[in-house]
Amino acid sequence: MEDFITVENISKNFSGLKALRDISFSIKKGEALGLCGANGSGKSTLIKILAGVLSADSGKIKIEGAEMVSYGPLGGIMRGISVIYQDISLFPTLTVLENICVARAIGQGRILSILGSERARAEAILGDLGVSINIDSIVEELPIASQQLVAIARALNNDSKLIILDEPTTALTSKEVGLLFKIVNKLKNSGISVIFISHKIDEIVELCDRVLILRDGGLIAAKPIKDTNLEEIETLMVGQSLVYSKMDDVDREAPVVLEVNSLTKKNNFKDIGFSLRHGEVLGVIGLLGSGRTELALALFGINAADSGKIAVDGTECRVRTVNDAVSAGIAYVPEDRLTEGLVMNYPIRENIVLATLDKFKDKFTFLKRRSMSEAAQKWLRTLSIKTDSPDNIVSSLSGGNQQKVVLAKWLERNPKILILDSPTVGIDIAAKAGIFAILKTMIAENGMGIILISDEIKEITAYSHRAIIMRNGRVAKILPKDEINEERIRAILNEQKQTK
Ligand SMILES: Nc1ncnc2c1ncn2[C@@H]1O[C@H](COP(=O)(O)OP(=O)(O)OP(=O)(O)O)[C@@H](O)[C@H]1O
Ligand SMILES: [Mg+2]
Repeated sequence: MEDFITVENISKNFSGLKALRDISFSIKKGEALGLCGANGSGKSTLIKILAGVLSADSGKIKIEGAEMVSYGPLGGIMRGISVIYQDISLFPTLTVLENICVARAIGQGRILSILGSERARAEAILGDLGVSINIDSIVEELPIASQQLVAIARALNNDSKLIILDEPTTALTSKEVGLLFKIVNKLKNSGISVIFISHKIDEIVELCDRVLILRDGGLIAAKPIKDTNLEEIETLMVGQSLVYSKMDDVDREAPVVLEVNSLTKKNNFKDIGFSLRHGEVLGVIGLLGSGRTELALALFGINAADSGKIAVDGTECRVRTVNDAVSAGIAYVPEDRLTEGLVMNYPIRENIVLATLDKFKDKFTFLKRRSMSEAAQKWLRTLSIKTDSPDNIVSSLSGGNQQKVVLAKWLERNPKILILDSPTVGIDIAAKAGIFAILKTMIAENGMGIILISDEIKEITAYSHRAIIMRNGRVAKILPKDEINEERIRAILNEQKQTK
């Protein structure tokens, strides 16, 4: 097959920082190309250049052999390149149909008057994708997986020849990921090229024909998938093989830090009871709708429970508000970190100390800037946040590095009880290992107890001392350490599907 796009010697700097160095590669028609690299290695920057959202400082791009002189985002779309960003960027208040037709309409100088023929075409595209979505529903009312499919339908309606998916699977359940992969394979068969970015290397191995690996803005390797494997890709990404730290055994005599009894919230969860010791990591798994996130929200006072008891260090506490939870020593890192956690146009330092400002006030309540900077520097180091100064604003960080700032903000609190909801979504494999290493140190130093909610069974099996499996808002099973393994967990989850 011939090449659809050829990239020659592309470089890009952001005020002195080399985000891309001399990148060259090409993509064949009908090829699925995986793009891997640690947080901040330049993946998003590269695809923004392909899409025409950013322009390169030097280098050439050829589409079907013709050299492109700078083209903006609409130019990219008109030349057949569509990007589906992680936040999808549909128009939330427009309908599915309007979203599918919008770029074409603007390209033709028309604003949203949908022609009858366009409706038929949009319906046909959704039909070909094999998805049933009401074309007149408002996009923001659809689940995230459906929104993603609408974005793909829009790309097809624009006659895209290259569709770029930037971390498309982070918000999807495994069933939805399966559907997405089927659709990508269909696209490939019809000659459309796909670039797929993911921190889940197993997905890249499953879906792609070839993989490009970026490190610090440079192209380290380009390999056909059949000539490589997951371990080799990981090693190439981080430049060394990874060390996974196991958690220390929990002290069975350690006092209980959190005791939950008969906790109930109507329509969310019922009769939840468990205890958490100092130094213990309690995994929480469950299918979507099992009530695990709702339980976390109740423990943190965001949506308080209707009845039941919560005791911290043996003292019963009322957790009606976030303030109640925080003063009881509970911290919560939400799943949806970017929208809930950061002030984007503030410096990294301020974002990190935001939740702990009291610690940094002197007796006249002036802020101690030096200690704030020291705290921020410590987290930049321990979580390897890629930036040259804590003075930089958060929006200049790559997606994964922004996630790490939110995590730093809550770890800086040094809570008694830390609730982590999907803590490593969007974070590269090396940083993931780093995060669990720092949690291990914090457990050893302060006896923190951790509730770890995760969809990644591997994360639960590697780091939990016990695991709760939730089903339909109830605790279905509590597994002791020696029963926490992938087969056992999958078996229980599958059993749930059947009884549903
Ligand atoms: N607008 C910007 N201003 C300054 N620096 C930027 C800007 N955008 C990106 N960078 C820097 O360029 C580098 C590459 O960022 P990029 O977003 O491409 O990384 P990435 O590989 O997509 O990472 P992630 O996996 O975390 O999403 C990072 O060091 C980032 O801080
Ligand atoms: Mg990115």
